[in-house]
Amino acid sequence: MEILKRVYQNAQKYQKRIVLPEGLEPRTLRATEIILNQKLARIILLGNPDEINQAAVELGVNIDGATIVNPKTDPKRELYASLMVEIRKEKGLSYDAALELLNDPLYFACLMIKNGDADGELAGAINATGDVLRPALQYVKTLPGVSVVSGAFLMFVNDPQYGHDGILVFADCAVMPNPDERQLAEIAITTAKTAKAIVGMEPRVAMLSFSTMGSAQHPLVDKMVNATRIARELDPDLKIDGEMQLDAALVPEVGRLKAPNSEVAGRANILVFPGLESANIGYKLVQRLAKAEAVGPILQGMAAPINDLSRGCSVSDIVNMVVITANQAAALFE
Ligand code: ACO
Repeated sequence: MEILKRVYQNAQKYQKRIVLPEGLEPRTLRATEIILNQKLARIILLGNPDEINQAAVELGVNIDGATIVNPKTDPKRELYASLMVEIRKEKGLSYDAALELLNDPLYFACLMIKNGDADGELAGAINATGDVLRPALQYVKTLPGVSVVSGAFLMFVNDPQYGHDGILVFADCAVMPNPDERQLAEIAITTAKTAKAIVGMEPRVAMLSFSTMGSAQHPLVDKMVNATRIARELDPDLKIDGEMQLDAALVPEVGRLKAPNSEVAGRANILVFPGLESANIGYKLVQRLAKAEAVGPILQGMAAPINDLSRGCSVSDIVNMVVITANQAAALFE
């Protein structure tokens, strides 16, 4: 796939420092060997160095070249704890409680990023999404002007007639259970930025519903209509339209029939779903039944790239997501 090739080349060029908090996890160690061999990023593994090196030997993988940092003994713990107290002073976090939290590699990784000691993080092979996201939301926080973090998937659908030559971007498939109108508008805008930055596509965003241009009346339909209006107010240059049904978004004849004046209908390459239920179920349907390759979730809107893996991830999923994280870091920091 041409796009993945370009994304890999970018990663090789920028050599970002990606921290992997699940340093003892076998798929993570195998992925580390591949990443280091192919020079895709600099890797920081968190955990006890003796245990990690022993695990690598037992797996027969070479992780020479990775930096191993032990969150329980690292000399920067005091510095990070002070930073945490400062960031969470309104929440009343004590210094001792901060030190305790730093024993958790998921918190330690976020503080490394906050302090400029790493450029991005990838976790989730053995931790649930919420546990990966919470420290990131609390300490790394959102980009200026963005209030909501969301998760996009690149969907490679093996059919060039859809989306951008067979690539679509779906959101929010990972984070906000029940976004409001303003949050849906922000999700549309940040997903368009992700699509442009990673895929290089000219975004055409469809705000999905069970109704197209007023064919049904319901508060859930109004929600997508209002989200579309707010997104247009926030970003007047964005090509976005809705509410529309999935077939009107993707199929030119249906789009022409149901939304004849839309520049998005029938040609959408970004699909914004009304909520996490439909988005998460939707991407998995396309992945499983249409055999699409799903790359993500790519978390967007965070002040630094932090991505979450599915616990069912493969070694190549981890390598792909390290590469995506490195690309996000390059886009944010160069
Ligand atoms: N964007 C920005 N900030 C957020 C967001 C968001 N989407 N969600 C929560 N926050 C902030 C809160 O304002 C809060 O800030 P504060 O502590 O400074 O006041 C902080 O993050 C923690 O928020 P809580 O609501 O206390 O945390 P919660 O326990 O609800 O966790 C979470 C938030 C983890 C995102 C939760 O909404 C969640 O679990 N979402 C679903 C994740 C999931 O299961 N996804 C499906 C699986 S992924 C897959 O299949 C690919």
